[in-house]
Amino acid sequence: MSYKTLFPHLPGEPMKLEPVERALLAEVYGVHVIGSRSAEGVYNLMLADWVMQVSFKPRLVAVSLENDARTLRFVRETRLFTVNLLHEKDGEEVARKVVMPSEAAKVRGRSPEEAAKVIDKLERVPHAFTQRGMPIVAQALAWYECEAEQFVPVGDHTLVIGRVLDGDLLRSGEMLTEKELGWEYAG
Ligand SMILES: Cc1cc2nc3c(=O)[nH]c(=O)nc-3n(C[C@H](O)[C@H](O)[C@H](O)COP(=O)(O)O)c2cc1C
Repeated sequence: MSYKTLFPHLPGEPMKLEPVERALLAEVYGVHVIGSRSAEGVYNLMLADWVMQVSFKPRLVAVSLENDARTLRFVRETRLFTVNLLHEKDGEEVARKVVMPSEAAKVRGRSPEEAAKVIDKLERVPHAFTQRGMPIVAQALAWYECEAEQFVPVGDHTLVIGRVLDGDLLRSGEMLTEKELGWEYAG
């Protein structure tokens, strides 16, 4: 499945890629699920490729979130989030359950009734919680929890710089990458 087919507002047509898009699509990304919670205690999970560590001391990671993602709103409210690394064996199963936006209005072409729907992605994914109450995906290879320290506007995304507070490896094996999954989020 091509993300650009689902979300045509993103640059590029799947069949007519510019050379520069092909170059950017050659990057290899790991597949993550970002866990978040609103100030009112509503939870969310979202699929994210754009995650990387950016400092050792202190341990900081950068996560790039779409400006209209529900996850970004939730992280602004509570300043906490988890990063769950999906497992190469069964990560696709989890990815399929969290790939859609929680707010159906985010996908173009929906009827008003359809657009008003909000999906509870956590309901579909076995999970636990960190001591601070943020969701951990039970099938993940590993998870870590962050406190957002900076929100940097970067075009159509916002870079959230998070201080890593806690985390653990849950299983042996390797992380799922987009190479195996065959989806894409770049270009
Ligand atoms: C393979 C793939 C990777 C993605 N990576 C990111 C990402 O790094 N950052 C982001 O904001 N959205 C990413 N998305 C899109 C979000 O998962 C999507 O917009 C999600 O619906 C937002 O969820 P929310 O509105 O429920 O928070 C990706 C989608 C796919 C299919």
